[in-house]
Amino acid sequence: MNIFDKPYSPACDRNKEPILEVLKAHLQDPGQVLEIGSGTGQHAVHFAAAMPHLTWQCSDRPEYLPGIRQWLADAALPNTLPPLTLDVTGPWPEGLFDAVFTANTLHIMGWPEVEQLFARLPHVLAPGGRLVVYGPFNYGGRFTSASNAQFDAALRSDDPARGIRDFEAVDALASQAGLQLMEDNSLPANNRCIVWGRAAAAPLSPP
Ligand SMILES: C[S@@+](CC[C@H](N)C(=O)[O-])C[C@H]1O[C@@H](n2cnc3c(N)ncnc32)[C@H](O)[C@@H]1O
Repeated sequence: MNIFDKPYSPACDRNKEPILEVLKAHLQDPGQVLEIGSGTGQHAVHFAAAMPHLTWQCSDRPEYLPGIRQWLADAALPNTLPPLTLDVTGPWPEGLFDAVFTANTLHIMGWPEVEQLFARLPHVLAPGGRLVVYGPFNYGGRFTSASNAQFDAALRSDDPARGIRDFEAVDALASQAGLQLMEDNSLPANNRCIVWGRAAAAPLSPP
């Protein structure tokens, strides 16, 4: 959908407040956030406006960047950076971020791309950093609702590589990347907002 000449996602308008509540609880200190798969850019402007202590770095595949730029330009926030091209299978930005946020991407990426995303996290997430993932998940191999089962069927008919991911498989990737599950929040419309944490750097032992 396209209103006011900008890409527009009605779902983002519906889910941005519940997601923000989770982000606010975990991202209280000043820091840099890398968003993977920013989509329209709506989440970025909402979250950056509500959390001015954060610097928000959008990223996505190249075709999404013009729309993200429009949202960022119209919002003119001091704490958003120009969006980066980032396909998780390609080159990643240099440097460490205090948090990585991604919404509604794991069921769009193929599983090897999801694996790639998690494999790269230790290189971009600072010690003590947070990974926050929003979207639908299955638990114990089961859908959490009939609507999620229908959504999964629609995803797979579009592209067999897509599909709602198993929480346990994603959590295993997070563990392999050195992340610990901190919180798994139930959000409206049968979605989850899951927070993992990277251990803080060990304090230097006294000489
Ligand atoms: C359903 S959209 C979600 C967009 C936005 N985060 C939201 O919640 O509305 C899926 C997003 O995943 C991104 N994506 C899919 N595969 C990707 C990949 N390999 N690397 C980076 N982003 C990817 C798409 O470009 C798209 O922006």
